[in-house]
Amino acid sequence: MNMKLSAVALGMTLAMGAGSALAGAPDWGSVEARKIPIFYPGVSPIEWITNGTEHGGARLLKKGEACVDCHDEEIADMGKKMASGSKIEPTPIPGKAPSIAVNVQAANDGENLYLRFSWKQPKASGAPKMDADNPVKVAFMLEDNKIERADQSGCWETCHQDARTMPGADDKKTKHVDGGNVDAGKFYDLMQWRSGKGEMHDGYVADKRVMEGGKGLVSAEGKNEGGNWSVVFTRKLAGGGKGDIALVAGKTYNFGFAIHDDSAKGRFHHVSFGYSLGIDADADINAKKQ
Ligand code: HEC
Repeated sequence: MNMKLSAVALGMTLAMGAGSALAGAPDWGSVEARKIPIFYPGVSPIEWITNGTEHGGARLLKKGEACVDCHDEEIADMGKKMASGSKIEPTPIPGKAPSIAVNVQAANDGENLYLRFSWKQPKASGAPKMDADNPVKVAFMLEDNKIERADQSGCWETCHQDARTMPGADDKKTKHVDGGNVDAGKFYDLMQWRSGKGEMHDGYVADKRVMEGGKGLVSAEGKNEGGNWSVVFTRKLAGGGKGDIALVAGKTYNFGFAIHDDSAKGRFHHVSFGYSLGIDADADINAKKQ
């Protein structure tokens, strides 16, 4: 009886904790931030990237170079080319922000991974809203070193020319991975926060994109204070649901993220290149134990 009661009480404490600041959430002021520019990619699916006749990086990508090895210093300039429509964007949106500088912070407490994204709201384009309910959406993907080239290309392995909102593509075809298969571990774990109602989604991308099934995401909370956004994800290291990667201390994972700014939908987002995320392990971003 007593044990049962205390279990109920504990459950309540946890539930309350999840609604406000989490008990284990780090003091973000003391967590190192890595500034990662994300850019407007236009129509640059993996087919374009790997086709040597169009993309100058294709040959060395095949030899193992990562996107950031070549592009790290010029990300904001790349965004300008596509946002303006001067390159690989048949339907540019006038006034669309070419790039956004995002601060990424990560930590863990032995139980959860904490990820914080913060950035300054770019000027609105004034274009018709594609997703009027959600001015902003933030998503990130993790991959457990099983998909070929994911350590070089980040989320690009899910980005195909036949996916919806690509020019001429079927409206029902989602992003996917060639040979994607959850049971075989060939998938990206996908988590998303939407600003409208503060909804969160815990899904994955395998042979198709699924926005549910995960059990790892504990909370996703975002706020805009005077034009400064911050969105914090709390994700159980263990995961436990379909399409959840079990994150283990000492290991690194492939990581990429995207922001749908300006009420954008589908491919009209800003994306990062691929980076490594370490759980207490040396990586581009190390989620150190707090
Ligand atoms: C070996 C160096 C190299 C690698 C690796 C590389 N690129 Fe490139 N990329 C280039 C060069 C050079 C250009 C510009 C000229 C061109 O289009 O061929 C370019 C152009 C682009 C563009 C068009 C915008 C622009 O600035 O011209 C995009 C988008 C792009 N790359 C994305 C990627 C992605 C995504 C990856 C990784 C999957 C990648 N690149 C890997 C060298 C590279």
